[in-house]
Amino acid sequence: MKGIIFNMFNDIVVSRFNEQTWEALLENARVSGAYSSLGNYDDQDMFALVGAASHHLGMTPQQCLHWMGREMLPRLGSFYPGMLERFNTTFSTLKALNNVIHPEVVRYHPDAVVPVFHYHEVSTNSMVMEYRSARGICSLAHGLMQGCSDYFNESVEIDHIQCRHRGDEHCLFRITIR
Ligand code: HEM
Repeated sequence: MKGIIFNMFNDIVVSRFNEQTWEALLENARVSGAYSSLGNYDDQDMFALVGAASHHLGMTPQQCLHWMGREMLPRLGSFYPGMLERFNTTFSTLKALNNVIHPEVVRYHPDAVVPVFHYHEVSTNSMVMEYRSARGICSLAHGLMQGCSDYFNESVEIDHIQCRHRGDEHCLFRITIR
């Protein structure tokens, strides 16, 4: 996983808590903490940090990933200037993930590994998004979707209707604009 994601998690933890909390997470997760934004690091380091954060901060790993995704969206927008500015709505942003946003990320960082989404039952104000990634961090996707609706100040309902962690075949989100 890209170092920028670790750096953003660091920033999110320090903004909500403090530097000592981040240091404690690094120690509990037994990871180095030396992440340069352009480097690529073992996914296991992120899983260990999420595990340490959930233990230390009293949340489930899914809640931690969701929090991280929600807080991360505006930070991704600032790190990649011009990326979010071309969209006006949550829907148009989510629909552009496979064709515009993530391919652009991969052009900047050819070693980035991005998830793939499939879109079903698309109508004007609702759709079902299927998340596919070997990393299986659907709660991060959920948080990023929520972060999008915060960013555009829209009222959006996001239901995680099927999840591989609950034994379903796919991870599906129903997204409805209110
Ligand atoms: C400004 C918009 C966005 C930018 C610049 C961006 C960029 C990135 C980057 C750099 C990564 C890390 C890839 C790696 O470490 O190899 C990533 C991963 C990811 N992105 Fe995006 N992203 C954006 C929006 C979104 C949104 C709205 C979603 C909502 C579903 C999303 C879902 C994900 C997920 C779930 C991952 C984790 C990787 C995985 O699951 O395998 N992203 N993105």
